[in-house]
Amino acid sequence: MTIILGLESSCDETAAALVTAEGKILAHRLATQEDAHRPYGGVVPEIAARAHVEALAPLVEAALADAELTLGDVDVIAATAGPGLIGGVMVGLVTGKALAHAAGKPLVAVNHLEGHALSPRLADPSLQFPYLLLLVSGGHCQLLHVRGPGDYARLATTIDDAAGEAFDKTAKLLGLGFPGGPAVEKAAAKGNPRAVPLPRPLLGTDDPHFSFAGLKSAVMRAAQSGQYNSEDIAASFQQAVVDCLIDRTRRALKASPGITALVVAGGVAANQAVRGALTALAGEFDLPFVAPPLWLCTDNAAMIAWAGAERYAAGLVDDLSIPARPRWPL
Ligand code: KG4
Ligand code: ZN
Repeated sequence: MTIILGLESSCDETAAALVTAEGKILAHRLATQEDAHRPYGGVVPEIAARAHVEALAPLVEAALADAELTLGDVDVIAATAGPGLIGGVMVGLVTGKALAHAAGKPLVAVNHLEGHALSPRLADPSLQFPYLLLLVSGGHCQLLHVRGPGDYARLATTIDDAAGEAFDKTAKLLGLGFPGGPAVEKAAAKGNPRAVPLPRPLLGTDDPHFSFAGLKSAVMRAAQSGQYNSEDIAASFQQAVVDCLIDRTRRALKASPGITALVVAGGVAANQAVRGALTALAGEFDLPFVAPPLWLCTDNAAMIAWAGAERYAAGLVDDLSIPARPRWPL
């Protein structure tokens, strides 16, 4: 049995997990920094980096204890090496290097986006390559052909904001609190999605990409007009995002012969309206729809351990000199 220890620290969650090469999750631990960042309404990089330093080693120890293992039982160390807030990424990667060096085990440096991209295969081992992935998180909004570990083709990306970022900014604007996505979803459940006329940028165009900046500005104007309550604005905003995601994904599906499934990953994939609309869209194309469980959609270390397992099985290991990268396209 090959056991992979995964470390994640690229944003505001510190996490450690143990996963086997067969996809069994032996332990996963996570410490969120939400309370530390809440007063600022967003993630403060310096506070995040310091909190990762304090949290990571105890989380590794706790995960090992949960699985009744010691570091000597671990075969591979996988750590997020980017993209993300550089201070946090460095904490996780340096910790991974130190553990790999001390235990004499191979290191796999994982692209955080690859963690999200492969996480559906941890949730559903029957999912085969190639699949079309909608990756929607706080920093990214992309459509990708996932052909194998380290083998991706990007069909579309955002030309301005990411979908999660739009959720977070809308929450801040409406005073709904932090983190924004779940707060907007909760408010939207009590509102009318047709109450506020909002734009759907790029909808129906030949341009394959995403855009949310115009939507964000329209939400701001609607909020400042005093004409609408925040539940209606939240519901109308969420519907506009769903419409944009579905339109762009439908366009990509038409250009994707031979794929095995429509797959969603990333924090915004935790949104039930997004999941529901994607389920229906996959049905239109007679494709299975695969979405990881909610806890695996938002940042965690099990997905990093699993990406490490897939890369290790493909012979992809890294040298201890590999740098942390704030930007790192898949
Ligand atoms: O993947 P993730 O945990 O971190 C990044 O790598 O960015 O994604 C976080 C993003 C945040 O923007 C958050 O507001 C959004 O995912 N999110 C949601 C929901 N839960 C998290 N957006 C909409 N609805 C949700 N339920
Ligand atoms: Zn993420």
